[in-house]
Amino acid sequence: MSIATQPITLNINGKDVGPVDVPEGLMMIDFLHEYLDLTGSRLGCGQGICHACVVIHDKPDGTSEEVRSCITGAHWFNGRKVRTVEGHGKRNEQGEVVELTPVQQKFLEHFSFQCGYCTPGFVNGATILVEQLKRKPVPKDQVEATITQALDGHICRCTGYVRYYEAVKAVITSTPGLVLDSGSEK
Ligand code: FES
Ligand code: FES
Repeated sequence: MSIATQPITLNINGKDVGPVDVPEGLMMIDFLHEYLDLTGSRLGCGQGICHACVVIHDKPDGTSEEVRSCITGAHWFNGRKVRTVEGHGKRNEQGEVVELTPVQQKFLEHFSFQCGYCTPGFVNGATILVEQLKRKPVPKDQVEATITQALDGHICRCTGYVRYYEAVKAVITSTPGLVLDSGSEK
C-alpha cells in the first residue's frame, strides 16, 4: 500500500521550505516535528482545545492569526508564511539564541511558566497580541480585558495564568505606543 502525498512549499520563520512531498492529511504539528525537526510546538490535547500547539500564520494583509497545528493539515499552509516558537529569538551564526523577544524575556522575569509545556503557545499568542496593539493601541483601562480575550483559549495545566498575564501586561505597558493616553482616546 502506498501513501498518497502532495508537495508543499511554505515559508517558516523567514526561510523558504520545500517543495517537499508530504502525506495527505498529515497535521501541521507532525510536519514540523517529523520533517523539519521543529519540535517547539507542543502537542497537548490534539483536539483543538488547549492551544499549546498554535503557530503564527502571517497573512498577506500584514496581520497575523493563531492556527492550531494539531487540527490543521500541513497542506493548508502551502504557500503561506508561518512563525513557530523557534523563530522568535535572535540567533547567531551557530544557530544559538542570543537575544529573546520582549514577550519571552518577560515570561522569564515573571516566572510565568512551570513545566513549560504550554509556553510556546502563550509566546505565539502574546506576540500576535503585541503586534496587533502596535497597529491599534488599546485604552489603558482595557489592557487587562484585552489580554484576557487574546489569551483566553490557552490552557495551562500548571495553572500559571496570573504570571503569564502579568508578564504580558508588563510588555504592553513598557512598550511605547501600545496603550493610548487617556487624552488620545476616541
Ligand atoms: S494540542 Fe492543539 S489545541 Fe491542544
Ligand atoms: S506551565 Fe505547565 S502547562 Fe503551563
